[in-house]
Amino acid sequence: MSEIIAPPLISPASPASFADSPLSAALRQPMMLGLFLPIQAGGWTASTLPRTTTWTFDYNAALARQAEALGFDIVFGLAQWLPKGGYNEVQDGQAIDSFMTVAALAAITTRILLISTVHVLYGPWHPLHFAKFGATLDHISRGRWGVNVVTGHRAVEHEMFGFSRIEHDRRYELADEFLAAVQHLWAADENFTYEGTAWRIKDGYITPKPLFGRPILVNATGSDAGIAFAARHSDIVFISSPTGTEFETAMEALPAHVAKVKAAGAQIGRALKTIINPLVIIAQTDDEAEAYADAIVGQSEPTGFYAGKYHSDAHAWANRKIYDTARQRGLGGGNLQIIGGPEKIAESIARLKAAGIDGVQLSFYDFAPDLALFGERVLPLLKARGLRL
Ligand SMILES: Cc1cc2nc3c(=O)[nH]c(=O)nc-3n(C[C@H](O)[C@H](O)[C@H](O)COP(=O)(O)O)c2cc1C
Repeated sequence: MSEIIAPPLISPASPASFADSPLSAALRQPMMLGLFLPIQAGGWTASTLPRTTTWTFDYNAALARQAEALGFDIVFGLAQWLPKGGYNEVQDGQAIDSFMTVAALAAITTRILLISTVHVLYGPWHPLHFAKFGATLDHISRGRWGVNVVTGHRAVEHEMFGFSRIEHDRRYELADEFLAAVQHLWAADENFTYEGTAWRIKDGYITPKPLFGRPILVNATGSDAGIAFAARHSDIVFISSPTGTEFETAMEALPAHVAKVKAAGAQIGRALKTIINPLVIIAQTDDEAEAYADAIVGQSEPTGFYAGKYHSDAHAWANRKIYDTARQRGLGGGNLQIIGGPEKIAESIARLKAAGIDGVQLSFYDFAPDLALFGERVLPLLKARGLRL
């Protein structure tokens, strides 16, 4: 265990405890709406059916503005480090970096929350870098920036950074140590000296201090160790579907899974919010949406997104049945899939809310037009159902 030299670690207050923070504004929504930016080639689906979606910054910047104009609460970028070739010919690994991309969006948006995914154990990042960069982004975005702390689950990624994959639960111990030091740096009014198992600091200090206690903290996980980590630190837990991507199958497990995550927070006096990432296949009617899904699947790469090309030790998806049908394989990512016309999509989101979930982070096949259709046809239905203010 880490030996703390001086002084005892302190944590800043969560931005959720400031009524005027951007996070509090988002949390007032009965159901938060996020957009999962396609900063990686192919997004979440390995299909060649023509679409506008690209990983370029210009495309993602336009999407962030479009989402903000529609009143969305969050844009979010994932992080991945894949060897040449990526997953397949469509999802070939080309991707702009999550931290840099989302940081750049801070300057061209005004209201929406901006969440970057960062592998805090790669590099390694130093807590001083992270605290300083985070505080800077907090000021540029006026309290809208946050980080999805991930520890990496693929052996190839760890090896790319020059070490063998760290054991699963040990990763969370290290991330805990890292984040404790970062949070202390955000909170402390004095120099800070610290000796942990992996990081040392002598008379460290950072300014400016974040505007609302600290940046927003998110963690994407499904394991007991990850949930315990999220309970200690996170405002929002980005959850998986333990059982599979098909909507009804996912719904079988989600209420209990969400309850487990929230109970882990409640046990230590913290109110955790949860978000999940549906892939939304939307059209004017249910039949048209089914035909759209068939067309996507008809041109999908057989290897798919999660074909197990790179070994993962993630618990989050250990028991899911994503490969049950060719259709699910063809549609690919998203922790669950929602296929339908506007009513069915609104109904599905209402059911996720009833399962205890506080927000959806949407991805689409053809992002710009599908998001526009969602805004035009589904948003009014969500408002009518009291899911959006
Ligand atoms: C919804 C969700 C989104 C995730 N996004 C990322 C990501 O962008 N990059 C990444 O390397 N890992 C991502 N992960 C993987 C987790 O960070 C974690 O490494 C993995 O789930 C293994 O941890 P666990 O066993 O605690 O679930 C995600 C996990 C979930 C559940």
